[in-house]
Amino acid sequence: MFATRQAFNLFQKRAFSASARQSSKVAILGAAGGIGQPLSLLMKLNPRVTELALYDIRGGPGVAADLSHINTNSTVTGYQPTPEGLRDALKGSEIVLIPAGVPRKRGMTRDDLFNTNASIVRDLAKAAADACPNANILVISNPVNSTVPIVAEVFKSKGVYNPKRLFGVTTLDVVRASRFISEVKNTDPANEEVTVVGGHSGVTIVPLISQSNHPDIEGETRDKLVNRIQFGGDEGVKAKDGAGSAALSMAFAGARSPSLCSSGQGVKGVVEPSFVDSPLYKDQGIDFFASRVELGPNGAEKVLPVGKVSPYEEKLLEAAFADLKKNIQKGIDFVKNNP
Ligand code: NAD
Ligand code: LMR
Repeated sequence: MFATRQAFNLFQKRAFSASARQSSKVAILGAAGGIGQPLSLLMKLNPRVTELALYDIRGGPGVAADLSHINTNSTVTGYQPTPEGLRDALKGSEIVLIPAGVPRKRGMTRDDLFNTNASIVRDLAKAAADACPNANILVISNPVNSTVPIVAEVFKSKGVYNPKRLFGVTTLDVVRASRFISEVKNTDPANEEVTVVGGHSGVTIVPLISQSNHPDIEGETRDKLVNRIQFGGDEGVKAKDGAGSAALSMAFAGARSPSLCSSGQGVKGVVEPSFVDSPLYKDQGIDFFASRVELGPNGAEKVLPVGKVSPYEEKLLEAAFADLKKNIQKGIDFVKNNP
């Protein structure tokens, strides 16, 4: 491809300076936790991230010092757990990833985390609305079906809400779905793509097997597969036995978020699944819904339709709607009653 070594060197130099011009600051709130640490590592390894800001109520600077020795180009800074530290971590950020909060223990539902995590997410959202109102905010903290509406309400109350820039991270459901279907079919998971829509808890997680490579999976096999995808989180919670929930697989899933950087840097047509402010079922009172979303410089540029579903999946969707509505309203009411 390159006639001479010099031509190759010149190409490399230009490629480098082009990426250096496109700076991208990513802030991680909850960076010292089970998800936060591996997620921070994966961000440090991503060439699209030029500046990494790590914030936690404990341990942020330590994680940052550790990561800062890795010989990739980005800078890493850990911030003190003070209002000023949080503000400085957020200032200038294009992407804010929020895995701050408590994880489930055996026997708990994600909704059981609401009492603790709602106020954590509300307060971090307030700081983000003040310091980086135009950033893409990616919420990992559970219960996602409620914490995302909480962020929306906080941004609305401060007059800076842009529905295109708020995302609930549901990618782990998609990652699990492709892994679990490959186990059923004995295939390479890298070649499996399963659209998962709805929300991120139990029956609100709706995998569309009919749209996958294997619409022939039916009957008991399908029911078991769907149940495993819907309740996959329980496997991690049980196995960890009190020491948290999925963290490494979550970090892997969350690390797809630099696709938001690439879209911010002008790359078009990136499609990621996400729980967003969605027009799809607003007429049925569902203001947020996870589906495939086309990303671009303005965030969620287009919410893609769910497409054709089977009668079995229609029933799954109906069951999801009831829970979703309640979960979303709970988040909205929380901010109204606890501004
Ligand atoms: P963890 O307890 O290991 O880590 C949470 C971190 O958040 C801790 O380091 C803690 O100090 C920090 N934190 C708490 N309050 C904070 C605040 N006000 N500001 C900044 N940092 C704060 O928990 P984890 O395993 O990393 O899970 C974190 C959250 O992610 C949980 O709510 C869990 O349910 C959720 N989760 C979501 C998904 C998903 O698919 N969306 C997947 C797995 C876990
Ligand atoms: C998951 O799906 O693994 C997370 O939401 C964590 C949990 O509590 O299940």
